[in-house]
Amino acid sequence: MAAPQRNLEIKARDADPRRSLELALELGAEDRGEIAQRDTYFGHANGRLKLREQDPGDAELIQYRRADEAGPRVSDYRLVAVAEAEALREALDAALGTLVVVQKSRRLLVWEGVRIHLDEVEGLGSFLELEDTSGGDRLDALRAKLDIQEPIAGSYSDLLLETPEVLLKAAEAAMRNAYAPHSDFKVGAALRTPTGAVYAAANVENAAYPQSQCAEASAIGALIAAGEREIAAVAVVAEKLDVCPPCGGCRQRLAEFARPDTPVYLGGHQTTTLGQLLPLSFQLES
Ligand code: THU
Repeated sequence: MAAPQRNLEIKARDADPRRSLELALELGAEDRGEIAQRDTYFGHANGRLKLREQDPGDAELIQYRRADEAGPRVSDYRLVAVAEAEALREALDAALGTLVVVQKSRRLLVWEGVRIHLDEVEGLGSFLELEDTSGGDRLDALRAKLDIQEPIAGSYSDLLLETPEVLLKAAEAAMRNAYAPHSDFKVGAALRTPTGAVYAAANVENAAYPQSQCAEASAIGALIAAGEREIAAVAVVAEKLDVCPPCGGCRQRLAEFARPDTPVYLGGHQTTTLGQLLPLSFQLES
């Protein structure tokens, strides 16, 4: 029988970062000071591509796959030292687009080989992270001493991608490219899938008016073409309306790939669910 896997990393929200720092110092943890880190995640990547810039510290480009993606696991990554970080960030942003930026201030302490990260993450708040790279058994002991109750799964980038703001920004960027010369009504829609990927698109009109396509329909097409089949969250924005609820037809289109409790962010002013927008939606099976 295979031995159970030990959890070598714990992340939790930290309600009282000052208390955590005090506790860690009382335990005799070595204080290595503050690091400012900025991770820029680029779009259109096969797996994940991020540029890490840190102060103090060197910049590096990291290509990897998330553990829950199909194919090779954590061991499959590439790390490239970067000499001109800002220029590379701008070039990759221009070529691939930026998916999300995780900016944090990290206080690093080390206790018996376990790294303690006291993180202040922009847009997310305070977190405490423990990382045991020594292969020892000190993680659980430290977890008890620091009184970490509810560990959470997922990376900061995933947590940020789950916020409405990131999806709304993607929808807005797509909206600016809308082709709407006939109605002069530009719409952008962005869809997030359970893998964290975001697909954004705009309305595309036609001189033969009924041939026009809504932003939501365009975004569903992009999601399907990328091989995805599930919508975890929806954002819709319009240039001339604070709240632009999807039309009836698009509610049915979204219902094909989403669930009744899937959140729908309407222009940052209102959050609803697909079930509220389309109760009793038509399904072939009940
Ligand atoms: N439109 C959308 O793209 N999504 C909606 O949810 C409502 C309407 C577009 C269609 C057309 O190009 C323009 O807005 C005016 O109806």
